[in-house]
Amino acid sequence: MNGDPFCYKSSVSFHFDERLMGSIQILVFCLLCFASSTYGYDPLDPNGNITIKWDVMHDDQNTQVVRVSIFNFQLFRHVEQPGWKLTWNWTGDEVIWDMTGAETTEQGNCSAFKSKQLPHCCDRQPVIVDLLPGAPFNKQVANCCKGGVLSSMTQNPSKYGASFQMTIGSFNASVNGTTGEALTGFPQNFSIGLPGYTCGEPLQVPPSKFIEDRGRRRTQALDTWNITCSYSQFRATPTPTCCVSLSAFYNDTIIPCPKCSCACQGQPTAKCINPGELPPVLQLHHNEEPQPVVRCTPHMCPIRIHWHVMLSYKQYWRVKLTITNLNFVKNYTDWNLVVLHPNLKKVTRVFSFNYKPINQYGALNDTGIFYGIEYYNDMLLQSGKTGNVQTELLLEKDTGWKFSFGEGWAFPRKISFNGEECVIPQPDYYPTLPNSGPFTAIALPLSLIVLIAFLVLYRMT
Ligand SMILES: *[C@@H]1O[C@H](CO)[C@@H](O)[C@H](O)[C@H]1NC(C)=O
Ligand SMILES: *[C@@H]1O[C@H](CO)[C@@H](O)[C@H](O)[C@H]1NC(C)=O
Ligand SMILES: *[C@@H]1O[C@H](CO)[C@@H](O)[C@H](O)[C@H]1NC(C)=O
Ligand SMILES: *[C@@H]1O[C@H](CO)[C@@H](O)[C@H](O)[C@H]1NC(C)=O
Ligand SMILES: *[C@@H]1O[C@H](CO)[C@@H](O)[C@H](O)[C@H]1NC(C)=O
Ligand SMILES: *[C@@H]1O[C@H](CO)[C@@H](O)[C@H](O)[C@H]1NC(C)=O
Ligand SMILES: *[C@@H]1O[C@H](CO)[C@@H](O)[C@H](O)[C@H]1NC(C)=O
Ligand SMILES: *[C@@H]1O[C@H](CO)[C@@H](O)[C@H](O)[C@H]1NC(C)=O
Ligand SMILES: *[C@@H]1O[C@H](CO)[C@@H](O)[C@H](O)[C@H]1NC(C)=O
Ligand SMILES: *[C@@H]1O[C@H](CO)[C@@H](O)[C@H](O)[C@H]1NC(C)=O
Repeated sequence: MNGDPFCYKSSVSFHFDERLMGSIQILVFCLLCFASSTYGYDPLDPNGNITIKWDVMHDDQNTQVVRVSIFNFQLFRHVEQPGWKLTWNWTGDEVIWDMTGAETTEQGNCSAFKSKQLPHCCDRQPVIVDLLPGAPFNKQVANCCKGGVLSSMTQNPSKYGASFQMTIGSFNASVNGTTGEALTGFPQNFSIGLPGYTCGEPLQVPPSKFIEDRGRRRTQALDTWNITCSYSQFRATPTPTCCVSLSAFYNDTIIPCPKCSCACQGQPTAKCINPGELPPVLQLHHNEEPQPVVRCTPHMCPIRIHWHVMLSYKQYWRVKLTITNLNFVKNYTDWNLVVLHPNLKKVTRVFSFNYKPINQYGALNDTGIFYGIEYYNDMLLQSGKTGNVQTELLLEKDTGWKFSFGEGWAFPRKISFNGEECVIPQPDYYPTLPNSGPFTAIALPLSLIVLIAFLVLYRMT
């Protein structure tokens, strides 16, 4: 290949038509997808995972009492309704005699049991769901019954875990009436039934300890196993689910969400509602999340985030942040927004949202999570007049830098809604300061680099 990048210049017309830009965006997007699917983790939450803990509490040869706990160790991704659905494969001949704090969705074939009391579940692959809040008292166990919903660690530290307890036994032993047949092998192929998550191999870890008698005595499990499940946005939804639009007081142009951010209008799978058309009547199914039905827009996203640079004072500047729900079939409960912007380390005030910094890289302190205030705006209502929430934030201009609104500095570097990264307009399109010559001079080479990268890759395939 010729080393001089400008040799391509003659072969390509430099007219940036929409289609070319679109294919570049798709290419860049696919590369990002590929990168995130291979790394399988989120740089904003590198240790985030859901851990299943399996504590053997009691073992008398014929039966075992096991306490299973699920912890959402993620900074900002939560588990929404319809909630987790835990499954595994038994490796031996186990049956579940009894369960509290959760239930299996099927009892399975227990016809071999002639006893009066049948097991709770005889399936080789039990599917376990959480009980709903307010379950009968005798079905409850400590820290149970949340309808499968788990908060993120940041938003509600008291609601990020759930537990249930079960008694398991050996099928052969109970059918044949023999005793002394130990349960063999640990179950395999765990799954928590949530899009985007895959669970690893069970790992035996030091036994869990439990506190008794107000902390004066500690007991411990006989055996403890951990199963770690990790998330990948690409596995969950190959297309984005939110986008960002931008504006600033110094320029009248509103930069909309990039076209086709989430889907393109007119694609056979992309249905949308035009103004005047009636939104669909919602068929409520308890066990599945409805497919989004969005308002018709060029970006076709169910969620739009608007970042408006509102005012500049001598020492401070002010941003208005609006989240709009364009989905007619979903209320987003306990929504959250993660923003990456270098000035977030100098946040002075956040109005009508909760805010917490997420300090992944210590000193940088450029990332934070915004979420609603309980009973006030923690639910983002379905599309319509009330389908938005907004905040204003006051940021102190850091005297350490030469603060400037130029070159798009005032706009966010990265935004995710409910843990899913949103599509942000290309820097080339940011609102510019009046008479800012140098900015366009920077923007063009950037497009050039993207184009050259595209061509090089194109040649290589
Ligand atoms: C899961 O998350 C917890 C809490 O952040 C962390 O301590 C643990 O190391 C993580 N596990 C894995 C396998 O990454
Ligand atoms: C196992 O999981 C528990 C919580 O689920 C966690 O506290 C513990 O650190 C984990 N152990 C290992 C070795 O990952
Ligand atoms: C676990 O899943 C793998 C692949 O799906 C399968 O080959 C294996 O038999 C399963 N293990 C058990 C115990 O069913
Ligand atoms: C149920 O299990 C018994 C033996 O455990 C077997 O004979 C019978 O065929 C099974 N029934 C079904 C419908 O699978
Ligand atoms: C074990 O799990 C896999 C999926 O993980 C499933 O396809 C398979 O049928 C299961 N095997 C048994 C014996 O249940
Ligand atoms: C019961 O025990 C007999 C002999 O000990 C054995 O042949 C048979 O397979 C066992 N039945 C079951 C269901 O395990
Ligand atoms: C249970 O009995 C069946 C035969 O009925 C046998 O194939 C199986 O290995 C036995 N399982 C255990 C754990 O003993
Ligand atoms: C959203 O919440 C409102 C008010 O609580 C309710 O009227 C509406 O039916 C809900 N919509 C959905 C899709 O759950
Ligand atoms: C990060 O910023 C927040 C304010 O946004 C501040 O309260 C916190 O002390 C900062 N942390 C560090 C490590 O600088
Ligand atoms: C506002 O920004 C747009 C997009 O960058 C630019 O084309 C336009 O010239 C700017 N308007 C003014 C008045 O500077």
